[in-house]
Amino acid sequence: MQLFRLAHLSDPHLQPPAGALQPADFVSKRLLSAIAWRRKGREHQPQVLNALTADIAAYAPDHIALTGDLTNFSTEAEFAAARAWLKTLGPASDITLSPGNHDALVARNAPDSFAPWREWMEDPGDTAFPAVRRRGPVALVNLCSATPTAPWLATGRLGEAQLARLATILGQLRQEGLFRVLMIHHPPASGVVSKRKSLEDAPALRALLKNQGAELVLHGHAHEAAVSTLPGPSGAIAVLGVPSASAAGHGKHPPARWHGIEIDPGQQKMRVVARGLSPQTGAFEPLGSYLLDTAQG
Ligand SMILES: [Fe+2]
Ligand SMILES: [Fe+2]
Repeated sequence: MQLFRLAHLSDPHLQPPAGALQPADFVSKRLLSAIAWRRKGREHQPQVLNALTADIAAYAPDHIALTGDLTNFSTEAEFAAARAWLKTLGPASDITLSPGNHDALVARNAPDSFAPWREWMEDPGDTAFPAVRRRGPVALVNLCSATPTAPWLATGRLGEAQLARLATILGQLRQEGLFRVLMIHHPPASGVVSKRKSLEDAPALRALLKNQGAELVLHGHAHEAAVSTLPGPSGAIAVLGVPSASAAGHGKHPPARWHGIEIDPGQQKMRVVARGLSPQTGAFEPLGSYLLDTAQG
């Protein structure tokens, strides 16, 4: 069977368009985010993100997985700007977006149910998370862990209804013989991020995965490269996180990186190709590649 090549990027934190924040926003959680953005704004550079997306385009992936935090304050203007940016990446049917906590910062003034982005989140006819997109030998199972939280938190939550649907979907996709790639903004393995940033119902997700299995889990949120595993029904499930796609590498987090994941459903292994920003040259360079076991669950 032909190799399926998936590109994974995350947390672009696009520059807020002028006027993205209105005075009324300064009484909300957005005020805290605006203060944080003063510090982090220098770290997230448009030219870094442009170089990264050009590098992905040169790789010509079959599909792009994007695990959230496109915005910083989740304002309407940012949603519109992010929509315009998404269109530059390719057809919406070739890009799957799982939203992040920054995309759900406050309920007020944020677009309802991520409306401007739905065509990147699901195929027509799908109306609830997890959305399933079948592409050749692969099924992308798109979860939403983004929920508005108290101002000092960056936690995520899936909720019982989404978890119940996920269990059914994973069982069905296994019967179809598809390679199941789970997408979620928050890391599902414990210890990857602090409790303040964690997925509240991660234990329930891990229990579900132990029964139903998955071939790969992709996440963002940590702004770090993270390789972890979770127990599946017939072996360890690989879990991969990637640094922010726009990080210049000046702060506490590593410079921008993306992963090419090469899936051959007939094989027990998949190859991960890591490419990252060289802060010296501003170009993206190979960081290495490695093989991961796929625990066919
Ligand atoms: Fe982020
Ligand atoms: Fe996040």
